[in-house]
Amino acid sequence: MAVYLLKWSFGVMMITMMVHTFVVFRGTIWIGDEMTDFPTLRCTRLRETLISKTASKIDMDSFMEDVQEIMSCPHESNITQRERRRVELRSCCNATGGLFLTRENTRKGQRIKYETNRKKSKVVDRFIFNMLPKSTPWRKESLFQRCAVVGNAGILRNSSCGAEIDSADFVFRLNLAPINNSRDVGVKTSLITINPSQIRIGYPRLEKNPQPLAERVSAYGDAPLLLPAFAYTFCTDISFKVHKVLQKMRPKQKVVFFNPDYLLELFQYWRHRGLEELRLTTGLMLASVAMELCDNVHLYGFWPFELDLLQRPVSHHYYDDIGPSRRMHAMPKEFLQLLKMHCQGSIKLHLARCQ
Ligand SMILES: *[C@@H]1O[C@H](CO)[C@@H](O)[C@H](O)[C@H]1NC(C)=O
Ligand SMILES: *[C@@H]1O[C@H](CO)[C@@H](O)[C@H](O)[C@H]1NC(C)=O
Ligand SMILES: *[C@@H]1O[C@H](CO)[C@@H](O)[C@H](O)[C@H]1NC(C)=O
Ligand SMILES: *[C@@H]1O[C@H](CO)[C@@H](O)[C@H](O)[C@H]1NC(C)=O
Repeated sequence: MAVYLLKWSFGVMMITMMVHTFVVFRGTIWIGDEMTDFPTLRCTRLRETLISKTASKIDMDSFMEDVQEIMSCPHESNITQRERRRVELRSCCNATGGLFLTRENTRKGQRIKYETNRKKSKVVDRFIFNMLPKSTPWRKESLFQRCAVVGNAGILRNSSCGAEIDSADFVFRLNLAPINNSRDVGVKTSLITINPSQIRIGYPRLEKNPQPLAERVSAYGDAPLLLPAFAYTFCTDISFKVHKVLQKMRPKQKVVFFNPDYLLELFQYWRHRGLEELRLTTGLMLASVAMELCDNVHLYGFWPFELDLLQRPVSHHYYDDIGPSRRMHAMPKEFLQLLKMHCQGSIKLHLARCQ
């Protein structure tokens, strides 16, 4: 009995010591002469450092350490920052009313200029007008509470983030990303993009044999499929074909076209903020849409590096290891932008496993 008690009180003492050490560590410590709150102050300073970072002056090793550390800092959403960003995006680009071409924001006879070549255009004839949906699927005044934008990066593998993603009010996905790994990426889809090159390469005989594409997109239920039909001239015919075949086979699933003016304005918006690249990634496009349409934006699967935060190799995508075009995109620069917004509290980046 006595031995037992002794052991017990020793245990309590150990726990007390541990708690005490922990409190001292987490609470107030001395740094130089000033009394400093740790880790709150450290996190605040790190946020400020990252927000003022420029992409040209990055030492990768210390950058990775900073990212790892900031991800263990508590994330604070800042409503002022969120609203400022939303107002900016709505006034420059207006995803709310003009993300894709509709019969409300487009008229017959209107000349649609291509996003990447303003000298080329297409007149909206009856054929094109009839392909357009009546209006956007969201009402102009109502916003979504919580949105998930699911990038396709390899860090999503084994992330167990599926349930968290599926619990969002609106889930953006990109480039026909497979959702068969539901534990990690979820299944809910509210909008998904298709890259016309995916159709050109993956479904070259689409009109003769539309079944495989119809099957593939059926995974997303009735979520609209969004294509940049007027980004480059080669995109138009492909996008129209997708519309044509799917309208017959999956009448409830709309095929819609990005408004090229929206994309161009968004490109300029980011260019004015220092993001110089030939083309924005679809991931950043959709993250921008979400920042305008949603109160809380959560990004999953945005990670353009070859090693994860624990220095383990990660594949480019969660479903394959085919890299992006480095000539077209500046993904690490985009990532820095997203990280800055994470630090400012206007979005939340998820890089670790979900609970
Ligand atoms: C939110 O951001 C604004 C603008 O940068 C800043 O003034 C304010 O202190 C921030 N609020 C919090 C709670 O961090
Ligand atoms: C956004 O677009 C819609 C539809 O074209 C328009 O009604 C609305 O006024 C636009 N909003 C802004 C802020 O430009
Ligand atoms: C994912 O988890 C499985 C089982 O838990 C493990 O065998 C596999 O190595 C993990 N893969 C990665 C990329 O971490
Ligand atoms: C999911 O789909 C991808 C691509 O279509 C395929 O490579 C992979 O084997 C599938 N995974 C499972 C678990 O079915």
